[in-house]
Amino acid sequence: MSTTLATEAPKTRRVVEDFMCGVFEVQHPLIQCHLTRLRDKTTPPHEFRQLVDRLASLLAYEATKDLRADPISVETPLTTTGGHRLAQRIGLVPILRAGLGMVDPVLELIPTAEVWHLGLYRDEETAEPVQYYSKLPELRPVDVALILDPMLATGGSVVAALTTLRDWGVPHVKLLSLIAAEEGVKRVELEFPDSQIYVCQIDPELNDRKFIVPGLGDAGDRIFNTCSSE
Ligand code: PRP
Repeated sequence: MSTTLATEAPKTRRVVEDFMCGVFEVQHPLIQCHLTRLRDKTTPPHEFRQLVDRLASLLAYEATKDLRADPISVETPLTTTGGHRLAQRIGLVPILRAGLGMVDPVLELIPTAEVWHLGLYRDEETAEPVQYYSKLPELRPVDVALILDPMLATGGSVVAALTTLRDWGVPHVKLLSLIAAEEGVKRVELEFPDSQIYVCQIDPELNDRKFIVPGLGDAGDRIFNTCSSE
């Protein structure tokens, strides 16, 4: 006899509380299943990387639904017909290190995107972000920046990245994170109310080391197999 788990039909949910009007928790059965494997502490690094890849693709698909496309014409082997071409310059902004794991899948979807790396790590004592790499030019900001970082915990790193992108002059910024803590989401919303946040799941809390709970541990360490250096 087969058993059926009674689950609510998943829907893409726009989080609508006042302080979260630009926050999208993308609910999809594929995301939920891959995220479960991602959280599992026994998932080895090679599978963890594949899961980050898949989840980043699914998230990017959702987050890019409102990109503008200009109408163009295209010659098929048979005739001329109408088509589209992206109308905006898109910049991917991975936050090193863990954000690197999300670059290839998003670049696969948007091959013309530019990639601008930001190096930020969280000080282990204070949990404050420390910027160690940025080569953004002074002029010609991209039209839309997609910040890539699997984790949004206190929000400090993302706020630092958003500040850098605002200083560059980027008009539209979207953050793509696999897991976020409610506290960090609220902070980003408060400090950058115009930004959009796309996440697979918002977790309820941070522990005393400012790790997301239940979370998945340290994404950078799990992607790059450096957990044993702790
Ligand atoms: C992690 C994560 C985010 C940041 C989130 O990076 O990838 O960048 O912490 O925390 P926050 O929201 O409290 O700022 P980490 O500092 O571990 O660096 P890593 O990617 O090099 O491992």
